[in-house]
Amino acid sequence: MDPEKLIISGENRLQGTVRIDGAKNSALSIMAATLLTKDVCILRNVPRLTDVDTMAAVIRKLGIKVEWRGDNTLYIDSDDFNNCEAPYELVKMMRGSILVMGPLLARLKKAKISLPGGCSIGARPVDYHIKGFETLGAQVEVEKGYIEAKVDKLKGDDIYLDFPSLGATENIMMAACLAEGVTRIENAAKDPEVVELGHFLNKMGAKVKGLGTDLIEIEGVKKLHGVDYTIIPDRIEAGTYMIAAAITGGDVLIEKADPLLLKPLIVKLEEAGIRIELEKNLIKVIGLNRVKAVDIKTLPFPGFPTDMQPQFMALSCVAKGTSVITETVFEKRFVHTGDLIRMGADIKVEGHSAIIKGVKKLSAAPVMASDLRGGAALILAGLVAEGTTELSRIYHLDRGYVKLEEKLNSLGADIKRVKE
Ligand code: EPU
Repeated sequence: MDPEKLIISGENRLQGTVRIDGAKNSALSIMAATLLTKDVCILRNVPRLTDVDTMAAVIRKLGIKVEWRGDNTLYIDSDDFNNCEAPYELVKMMRGSILVMGPLLARLKKAKISLPGGCSIGARPVDYHIKGFETLGAQVEVEKGYIEAKVDKLKGDDIYLDFPSLGATENIMMAACLAEGVTRIENAAKDPEVVELGHFLNKMGAKVKGLGTDLIEIEGVKKLHGVDYTIIPDRIEAGTYMIAAAITGGDVLIEKADPLLLKPLIVKLEEAGIRIELEKNLIKVIGLNRVKAVDIKTLPFPGFPTDMQPQFMALSCVAKGTSVITETVFEKRFVHTGDLIRMGADIKVEGHSAIIKGVKKLSAAPVMASDLRGGAALILAGLVAEGTTELSRIYHLDRGYVKLEEKLNSLGADIKRVKE
């Protein structure tokens, strides 16, 4: 497909209602978990995103039947398959492909997954995943760019994670469901996507306890069965629209968003002067002329999400005063700052912190998305900038936002998608 770019005419105040799609990162791990049963699984409210297509391609490559049935429903039949390899061509497109490793080990007793490699937000090693599988009894070798693992029988054991990694918690949890005995994951991730995966596994017949805490206990069972499951709304998509409303001084009602999962963002936006009204599954954001500068520090859930850091930085660029944004989850997640500076922002990065002196106006410039959330930050900046911003490499945005420009335009933005 020809590369595309977005042409964003700035300075439009957003107003209206926007509906949030299913959570990308929840859909990805739940799709991987369907491999744990021979039965058919039906997943509903699955977002139509390129990352979901990539996970579907990975699963198909294993020999599994994956079909869209209607707009947002996936039908996955893993009755009979014996390919255990996720190749480089697919894993390089999406690191989340590593999530099939735990289910493959549990189901086929072997897995061969291309090593994901670094990406623009950091080195992102997978050593905790590997250590976890080894603790469960697998023999793991890393050779020629692939992680190869095999096991006779997975056996439950205690695993301590050095950092509450979302992916490692999920991968180990999936493998442990069909292991013999009990697995305890200490310092586990508490993210909503982990909790949802646990609910999905329990619905399949697994015995997972302690979800949402830092000690997850999984008692292995012999067999899991197929289920029909609905994916939760995407908290990061919702958060991005909250900032779109805040940065344009708009008035936006966000439907199908869970306020309980967005607490750290809500608190920070209120601190910045934004009015927020909450109801079950509804968030109304009422902006003001210029927000106050506030500091944020990203942390594992329930701390401020790293996946909202770039978007919050875009807002800080036009705040009254100086903000300090500290990134503690990924070591290099400030790639978007260069392009924000091109748009007139005043940002200095010192180690893990960015110091942002708010300016009255940003000005449009040709910019480039370097990753998914960094790209979202540039769209947000484009929404308030004076003039017309051209944003290229938007394939990053299509990985994680359903109909982004369509949804923003329905709120009053002026964004066109054109061929480069
Ligand atoms: N880490 C290691 N070793 C490991 C695993 C992780 O050192 O074996 C480090 C990472 O390098 C990072 C930190 O631990 O510094 C946290 O990484 P984590 O494993 O929690 O992240 P992930 O599972 O690779 C998921 C999301 C990301 C999101 C992070 C953090 C998926 C598919 N991806 O990644 O989502 O930023 O958790 O919340 O679930 C996005 O949607 O834009 C995105 C990047």
